[in-house]
Amino acid sequence: MGKPFHVKDLKLTTDGSQRIAWAAREMPVLRFIQERFRRERPLRGVRLGCCLHITTETAHLLLTLRAGGAEVVACASNPLSTQDDVAAALVKVHRIPVFAIKGEHQKTYYEHIKAVLATHPHITMDDGADLVSTLHTRRPQQLSGMIGGTEETTTGVIRLRAMERDGVLGYPVIAVNDALTKHLFDNRYGTGQSTIDGILRSTNLLLSGKAVVIAGYGQCGRGLAMRARGMGAQVVVTEVNPLRALEALMDGYLVLPMAEAARRGDLFITVTGDTSVIRKEHFQVMKDGAIVANSGHFNVEIDLQALKRLSAKSRGVRPFVREYSLNGAGARKKEHKIYVLGEGRLINLTAAEGHPASVMDMSFANQALAAEHLVKHGRSLENKVYPVPPEIDQTIARLKLTAMGVKIDRLTPAQQQYLTSWTSGT
Ligand code: ADE
Repeated sequence: MGKPFHVKDLKLTTDGSQRIAWAAREMPVLRFIQERFRRERPLRGVRLGCCLHITTETAHLLLTLRAGGAEVVACASNPLSTQDDVAAALVKVHRIPVFAIKGEHQKTYYEHIKAVLATHPHITMDDGADLVSTLHTRRPQQLSGMIGGTEETTTGVIRLRAMERDGVLGYPVIAVNDALTKHLFDNRYGTGQSTIDGILRSTNLLLSGKAVVIAGYGQCGRGLAMRARGMGAQVVVTEVNPLRALEALMDGYLVLPMAEAARRGDLFITVTGDTSVIRKEHFQVMKDGAIVANSGHFNVEIDLQALKRLSAKSRGVRPFVREYSLNGAGARKKEHKIYVLGEGRLINLTAAEGHPASVMDMSFANQALAAEHLVKHGRSLENKVYPVPPEIDQTIARLKLTAMGVKIDRLTPAQQQYLTSWTSGT
């Protein structure tokens, strides 16, 4: 790539700066960490390569890492999630090299990843593990200089565990996603709200009375189901995991296999992290006018190639909405239309602004503290996937409560003693 940065348009800087300032209001935990980092400089001399969604919230993470003394460079972790105004402001106002343009081609996406790797980072910070996997496959000579990495999302953690299992992971990585203060809030309340936000912004749909099929009942699926029900939708859950299916059932949702749900749904949302969850045989039986969206990390959950093969034609009908006309072959005899949102890419960042700042505050507090932990302890870790240390989770939860003005009780000495003894029963 050779250029010091690659963004859409530096003239977008003013908008970006204003929106970054707005997000700060809801990120008190990260601000607190940033202030400490500025005093203590725990990341001094560390080169940090970040592959994250370039949003207002990420801007605050990058500024926090820089306040800690790190040299920071960033690229997008998805071709459609970049907020171009934020990318411009990061480059022009904050002098952070950013390689990210909303709508970038797959080839440019990987050129941007390579531009980050060309800075020889000591720590990688990933959302989906594309930076880690490109480093291992394209620049393995850099592995020896690595301190470690962090990973933001479920999909990325799954990929990293597969690398560990296959014995190819070349440095320790902290699974930020698995911190309680991350996935219980970001995945559940963040995905729940921002996915609905992306769907409403792109379609202006009334959810009330609609049959909404949610594929996957992990934290993301449950947040989404909760919010869709709250807006009056009839929620149907599909699952492959019997425990999760049982939870969905007892949470009050209808649980069906996709083959059955496909006939009933008005709106389908995938949040499984797996591939081809909605595929040919499902498109063929969907209602005329069904809408299909994905909020999982990669654009593999909806089999768009199958849909294209089934369709006589397609056309864009609104920003982020493509209409496919199916020619009537297969189980459904008449021609029918299916609408796909945001090219099957994660709709909350494609058509809306991603998770609200208040949850990213905790996710990115975990990222910042995980980076600090790697600098302190990374050299003594093995090439494995590690959890975020529980004391970091506790600290973040306490800081967030304090920032929200919420006080909680403390154990009395008698309670503390009771919890550690085994002698007293009934
Ligand atoms: N992932 C989901 N929402 C996000 C946001 N607002 N910023 C960065 N990454 C995200």
